[in-house]
Amino acid sequence: MSSPKLSEAPSIDQVQAHRDHLFPWVKPYYGDPVVITEGEGVWIRDEKGREYLDFFAGIVTTSIGHCHPAVVERVRDQVGRLGHTSTLYVTREQIEAAATLMGIAPEGLTRTAFTNSGTEAIETAVMAARIFTGRSEIVALRHAYCGRSTLATTITAHAPWRPVPSTIAGITHARSPYTYRSPLGPDVSEEEQTEFFIQDLIEVIETTTTGRPAALLVEPIQGVGGFIVPPRGYLARAAEVIRSFGGLLIVDEVQTGFGRSGGQWFGCQHSGVTPDIMVMAKGIANGFPVGATMAREDIAAAWTSLSVSTYGGNPVSMAATSATLDVMIEEDVPERCRVRGRQIRSALDEFGARYDWIGEVRGMGLMQALEIVGPDREPDPVRARAILEATRDQGLLVGVGGLKGQVVRMGPSMLITEDETGEALNRFSAALEAVDRAG
Ligand SMILES: Cc1ncc(COP(=O)(O)O)c(C=O)c1O
Repeated sequence: MSSPKLSEAPSIDQVQAHRDHLFPWVKPYYGDPVVITEGEGVWIRDEKGREYLDFFAGIVTTSIGHCHPAVVERVRDQVGRLGHTSTLYVTREQIEAAATLMGIAPEGLTRTAFTNSGTEAIETAVMAARIFTGRSEIVALRHAYCGRSTLATTITAHAPWRPVPSTIAGITHARSPYTYRSPLGPDVSEEEQTEFFIQDLIEVIETTTTGRPAALLVEPIQGVGGFIVPPRGYLARAAEVIRSFGGLLIVDEVQTGFGRSGGQWFGCQHSGVTPDIMVMAKGIANGFPVGATMAREDIAAAWTSLSVSTYGGNPVSMAATSATLDVMIEEDVPERCRVRGRQIRSALDEFGARYDWIGEVRGMGLMQALEIVGPDREPDPVRARAILEATRDQGLLVGVGGLKGQVVRMGPSMLITEDETGEALNRFSAALEAVDRAG
């Protein structure tokens, strides 16, 4: 017997059907999950016709808004002309996307490999570093999130996101530069914090590796970790440290890339750091499955063994990438993120002053977060969840993050307008009030 077509059967409970058919880890947000049917700009609509302002953009991914006409048009045209090739053939679409990327990437990153996700882009970066250096050990940071393959979950340093014990040897973790939860306490200077975390990094390399690491892998702002912004000078010093041990710097720009951190195309550029290898995904193609790894000429050249990707550089994904990049460049999204980020931040700072359960307001550009705490600054994931539910009630979508799920995260489309941002903040304010009233 053939199963009913779910999209044509509104009487079928889609949420229950989701639970019945998918792996349990494909777990939607909310007690009563949102069944999304349409999106346009910062708005999405559910199956009952209710509209929500999307202030999280599918995990900072719909970088220029849902169904941006430029992307829709290019993809529609491309899918009607050529939908697949594999990396065995040359396509104009792949070359064009790589050339545009090179135009905005930090200088020296001249070569690109396209894959289908951030996870794969991380795998490619680590493999490239290992091949080039002839070494194997990777130093990462605690509170990092890198994806869902075996390697990526081993680099990921959040117990809840590690489904199996680490089985890949040679991955070691230094302290996250998480100043709010630093053992030094909140009252020391940024310089002292930087020094403390850098000394830890050095000690980790000297005590838990052979002293010959292949690379250090860092996110300029730890995304899933809860938008953890390192203290000033940390990334530049960390780059010096890994290079002093002969290793490469891999920067994971999956969340911070493409202007989101405000004022710069990539998060590492705020620190004047040029990575040896850079990893991108999420916002690169406005939601189409694209991962990209960029590297220096000599690093790319060292990889002489065979490798292929059936879907990497797929012409439809590349059309989406080029369309998205063109709009991001034309609209100067780094500047837009800087300005809109300030608008959000000033409202969040007010909320932070109003509610004592907001422990810290942090972030850069259009990556802004609130860490929700109890009376002794302990993480309060229960209240963070309550905020998530209350924002949904207000017709606003935000995200959660942090090791315990205690951080509320915001990262809307980078084309969001001032009025839309104002509307989102009004809804957010109402949600916080409702949560506070509930006690
Ligand atoms: C910083 C970072 N790196 C890598 C990944 C993995 O990307 P993907 O989910 O596309 O595999 C993520 C995903 O959230 C991420 O946030």
